[in-house]
Amino acid sequence: MTGVGRVTLVGAGPGSADLITVRGMRRLAEADLVLYDALSSEEMRVYAPKARWFFVGKRACRQSIAQEVLNRLLVRYARRGLTVVRLKCGDPFVFGRGGEEGLALAEAGIPFEVVPGVSSAVAAPALAGIPVTHRGLASSFLVVTGHHEATYAPILDQLGPDSATLVIMMGLGQRARIAERLIARGWSGGTPAAVVVGAATPQSARWIGTLDGLGAAEVPPTSAGAPGLLVVGAVVGLAAELASDSASPLPQQHKGQT
Ligand SMILES: C[S@@+](CC[C@H](N)C(=O)[O-])C[C@H]1O[C@@H](n2cnc3c(N)ncnc32)[C@H](O)[C@@H]1O
Repeated sequence: MTGVGRVTLVGAGPGSADLITVRGMRRLAEADLVLYDALSSEEMRVYAPKARWFFVGKRACRQSIAQEVLNRLLVRYARRGLTVVRLKCGDPFVFGRGGEEGLALAEAGIPFEVVPGVSSAVAAPALAGIPVTHRGLASSFLVVTGHHEATYAPILDQLGPDSATLVIMMGLGQRARIAERLIARGWSGGTPAAVVVGAATPQSARWIGTLDGLGAAEVPPTSAGAPGLLVVGAVVGLAAELASDSASPLPQQHKGQT
């Protein structure tokens, strides 16, 4: 193979193989090499029959090798003339470090393209029956990482109670602290709240309740290890009527008390 290849950062969507975009499927069909980091993407192998696949992640959405190493791999394989797809969970530019990969490629003079994906920030709530901006209930939604308190605290502290729907990614382990913080800032303990895990995967489950109960909300054992997010706001109150994620219906015992 001669000449410089190219790299496409493809958003794989939230989990299910049929939630990738048509353009993402086309880029996979053209690929010589796919570097992927989501277990759910395994089912997408049929879209890239001639490609070699390298797993660079531990489990859904989390990669196991250092970002700098991955950036160098992308550059190296493109310089060998390969057509490379970097398949990333959700959308590559939403908490996905796709921007860093794009910058590394630009700096190295490698042609690259981004194919947006369906972000779990909206897909997981949608599949759980939560329209993040429902007319009359919410006119905005805020997506924030719940990974580090130092990052989310100043953002949540500025928000007036009920001023927006909150979508908190990477925050399952912080759910008690986040709920306490919002209540301390004047949010009612009765504000509807949800935990949505493994959306669009066989591990799909959700918990629907209120801020008061969020800290004690349990993720069912069948969903252990699946990625999940929190949703807070009046729109969560519509979940019972609008849920459509058929992968795994919510077990009764994990329903909250709305
Ligand atoms: C590193 S971020 C990547 C987000 C991704 N780029 C996107 O746009 O969806 C990983 C977080 O996304 C959320 N997430 C990803 N897939 C999910 C799913 N199927 N169900 C619920 N949350 C998910 C979780 O909050 C998880 O901790």
